[in-house]
Amino acid sequence: MNAIKLDISNTAAMISPEERLALEDSVKRIHSEMELRKGVGADFLGWADLPSQTSEDYLAEVDAVAKTICESCEVLIHLGIGGSYLGARAGISFLGVNSSSRNIPEIRFAGCNISSDYYAELFSLIENKDCCLFLVSKSGATLEFAIGFRLLRQWMEKKYGAEETARRIFVATDPKEGVLRKLSIEKGYTSFDIPSNIGGRYSVLTPVGLIPLAVSGTNISDLMRGAREMESLLRNNASTENNPAYMYAVSKHLLKAKGKSIEIFAGFHPCLREFLEWQKQLAGESEGKDGKGIFPASVEYPGDLHSLGQWVQDGERSLFETFLLIEKSSHEITIPEFSDDEDGLNFLAGKTLDFVNEMAYKGTAQAHLGGQVPNMTLRVKDRSSYSLGQLFYFFQRAVAMTGYLDKVNPFDQPGVELYKNNMYSLLNKPGY
Ligand code: PA5
Repeated sequence: MNAIKLDISNTAAMISPEERLALEDSVKRIHSEMELRKGVGADFLGWADLPSQTSEDYLAEVDAVAKTICESCEVLIHLGIGGSYLGARAGISFLGVNSSSRNIPEIRFAGCNISSDYYAELFSLIENKDCCLFLVSKSGATLEFAIGFRLLRQWMEKKYGAEETARRIFVATDPKEGVLRKLSIEKGYTSFDIPSNIGGRYSVLTPVGLIPLAVSGTNISDLMRGAREMESLLRNNASTENNPAYMYAVSKHLLKAKGKSIEIFAGFHPCLREFLEWQKQLAGESEGKDGKGIFPASVEYPGDLHSLGQWVQDGERSLFETFLLIEKSSHEITIPEFSDDEDGLNFLAGKTLDFVNEMAYKGTAQAHLGGQVPNMTLRVKDRSSYSLGQLFYFFQRAVAMTGYLDKVNPFDQPGVELYKNNMYSLLNKPGY
């Protein structure tokens, strides 16, 4: 079942069917190279068949470790930066896990900033609480992550002693390389592999995302089933017409060619906020290189219609929008009728918030199109684990195709090294 529907009708004034057709050969060639693991970045295509390669036994192992974590702590601190945490956070907020109503730990993120106040607040939150750490770093060496780990390890060892701390530390890292792998072996941390052929931002369906999602009560079998079915749809259809991820990628590519160099991901539900952050990183780090790429931004409507809406409607015409909608909310709320109708809202009485939100979307899409902001809409059926799995895989495939159409390697991030080198040198790191 396909839980995602793509509507590109609001790009029709800018992109003709012939222009799409002209890219068909390139799309088919890229598709076949991805399938055959050929071409630039081929060593990092492990995510492409990950869902179909992940067994139920493996998921049961992940669930068992998640259960141990749930039984051991009130707070799980997930340490990681970039692709090492954005997917987990996206999934948890998409699914709307409510730790207060279930017997599961609260999940907090660290290692993604170097803010004293953030850590001070975290330490005060976990005071008198039982904690576990989930350490995620493929390289094991990323400074923001490593500092976070050092701070929390000291806190843990003071509270629990070295042995108990080691029992409370869980790791996802490179199977062989890196300081975190070495430390896991030495200290006996429970550890999972991030496959060497999967980069950080494509790793959400590895233990990087699966462990925290399972801890938060997600049915990871359903999640993987959704991803698997999306994998099958997208891998079995090389033609743009039958492959919504490629249709989206081709449309982005053509819009960019016409000067639309900024993509605004727009959600109409707060539960999509973190998902859009994940999408932004996936697209930004994969596509923005060699002087090319579409700059990804995200907004949350209708709130941001009263903040950035003016710019989108009327500012420099370099934008296109991708709306992400949820067809069915998990709850239904109806607007009440007031006998006095003092606020004049009785014309909405009996209507659901979902209905009004849909009209807000339609009105926005029309207005922005009229302001020369072409837009596409992705509708996801609901907020289930299954639909989330489909979304994760859909965007990974789409972003890989967009990068390849632009002739860049969608799986590296050489531009991130420069700031690191400068920072290390400023910090007098030996060798820099
Ligand atoms: O997507 C990526 O590859 C990056 O965003 C990495 O996830 C990020 O730089 C963190 O790297 P590491 O997992 O090695 O600490």
